[in-house]
Amino acid sequence: MKLGILGCGNWGSVFGIIQQKNDHEVKIWEFDRQRALAVEKTRSNEPFLSGHTIPQEIRIEWEMEKVVSDADLVVFAVPCQTLKSVVDRLANLMCVDKNCLSLIKGIDVETLLLPTQVIAKKLKAEKIFALSGPSIANEIIREEPTAVVLAGRDVSTAKELQQNLSTSFFRVYLGTDMIGIELGGAVKNVLAIACGIIDGMGFGTNAKGALIARGIVEIQRLAARMGTDPRTLLGLSGLGDLVTTSFSAESRNHRFGVLIAQGETVKTATEKMIMVAEGAATAMAVRKLSHELGVEMPICDVMYEILYEHKPPADGIRDLMQRPLKSEIL
Ligand SMILES: NC(=O)c1ccc[n+]([C@@H]2O[C@H](COP(=O)([O-])OP(=O)(O)OC[C@H]3O[C@@H](n4cnc5c(N)ncnc54)[C@H](O)[C@@H]3O)[C@@H](O)[C@H]2O)c1
Repeated sequence: MKLGILGCGNWGSVFGIIQQKNDHEVKIWEFDRQRALAVEKTRSNEPFLSGHTIPQEIRIEWEMEKVVSDADLVVFAVPCQTLKSVVDRLANLMCVDKNCLSLIKGIDVETLLLPTQVIAKKLKAEKIFALSGPSIANEIIREEPTAVVLAGRDVSTAKELQQNLSTSFFRVYLGTDMIGIELGGAVKNVLAIACGIIDGMGFGTNAKGALIARGIVEIQRLAARMGTDPRTLLGLSGLGDLVTTSFSAESRNHRFGVLIAQGETVKTATEKMIMVAEGAATAMAVRKLSHELGVEMPICDVMYEILYEHKPPADGIRDLMQRPLKSEIL
């Protein structure tokens, strides 16, 4: 297959490297011309990817057309809040309909659309798919065992992609609920920031276990209200991904939460991060979405208040602990 990857950050470059090794032809688009030229020349993708180089066989381009024109599959690996502008640029170029695959985890703050919905709105894509799950790129580049889930409306093409993109260490499961899978990947980033806050405040694993279990209930409520299958959230995208990012020192959203617990603001923590921590913007989108749909999401609400309304993290935790007592299964 010929893959045209949009985004030469941490995940875009690692996905490209493992798929090139998997016998696919890979080109990657980087929006920053100077950076694209430097990566193409030096093969180093610092600061997004440390300790690994990009093989000569992978072309890095700053002109989007060169990456998508002959691609069989266009892969999206840019920060969620930049996707609209990337799709707009692509809409002017993509005269032949292609298959599209989103690796993005987030919700567009302005439109409250999930990545595949942003793509579908503007692009005459042939078929659209999402791939998500516990997939920390820095572990995948070391070829550590990883399982993800891929879904889309066209089951036969999804099965082909599952076969084509799986490797000996990257196992792709087939999902049936693309929206549920995207919701899991997006909202878990908000909860991963919360886990970072718990670590940053020096609490132990009881708090984290509670957060994961109650956090999944919140995503399930939102998923059910949006007409998807809440069981999806107990799978790789949802529970699997939340456990990974909650305990991993390599998770940026988790690191972002630690910085917030140490007194940084969203602005100063973002400046320290280099790479995107999608959970910060997603907290805003989830707040809007859950209030619009009337879905009770107390942990996500408190995260919004900590991140955007200057609530001290200790007050946020106290508020959650002092909510009226209730049954677990509701
Ligand atoms: N890194 C991971 O381990 C991982 C794993 C799974 C999913 N994801 C998701 O993949 C997406 C990309 O994450 P990443 O880790 O590669 O991010 P990153 O911060 O490492 O890289 C982002 C890339 O987007 C480019 N970019 C920045 N602003 C842009 C703009 N305005 N227009 C076009 N391109 C722009 C950057 O130059 C860079 O190439 C996110 O949604 C993330 O949640 C990441």
